[in-house]
Amino acid sequence: MPPGAGPDSHAIAIAAERRWAWIVIAIIVLLVGMMVVTGLHWSAMPPSRVETVDVKTLHLKGEFVESNLGTSVAADGKVTVRLIGQQYSFEPQCIVVPAGVPVTFRGTATDTIHGFVVGRTNANTMLIPGFVSTFTTTFTTPGEQLMPCHEYCGTGHEAMWARVQVLPAAEFTARAKPGERLSCVQR
Ligand code: CUA
Repeated sequence: MPPGAGPDSHAIAIAAERRWAWIVIAIIVLLVGMMVVTGLHWSAMPPSRVETVDVKTLHLKGEFVESNLGTSVAADGKVTVRLIGQQYSFEPQCIVVPAGVPVTFRGTATDTIHGFVVGRTNANTMLIPGFVSTFTTTFTTPGEQLMPCHEYCGTGHEAMWARVQVLPAAEFTARAKPGERLSCVQR
């Protein structure tokens, strides 16, 4: 008989395994709880539906040609920001949005996976080549926000960021012209 083995060793092993099982269950419950809290309390948004776009013709035709990037205001007042991410910049580099009005972002990437978050708001998405990422959010406070790339995309990743100017709604409306694409990039 090996040292330590006795009539009780089987019962001790079962008790130890049961103890570890409860610890593992507690960890799983904690992780699921964290997902629920971040989802509800921080308004983290679920991934958008799958919408594809052809990377090869992105620059040539369709929604993401350069002249169509930036902020547009539709006839019914809906505000849409279109942008692309590429190594190592966003286009446009400076985005204008109104405060207190729902803004829909539509973005994609040309080369590899990028992503962005706008300051400490819940505007946060990945940009994936071949797919259109979209979400709608409302910026409550006017001011300038930094918008860094948050997916490691290569050696220039840490230098990849844009700015978002949140303007008071009246100031935004004064600058928005029908059919035009707004940005705050210096020209
Ligand atoms: Cu683009 Cu990191």
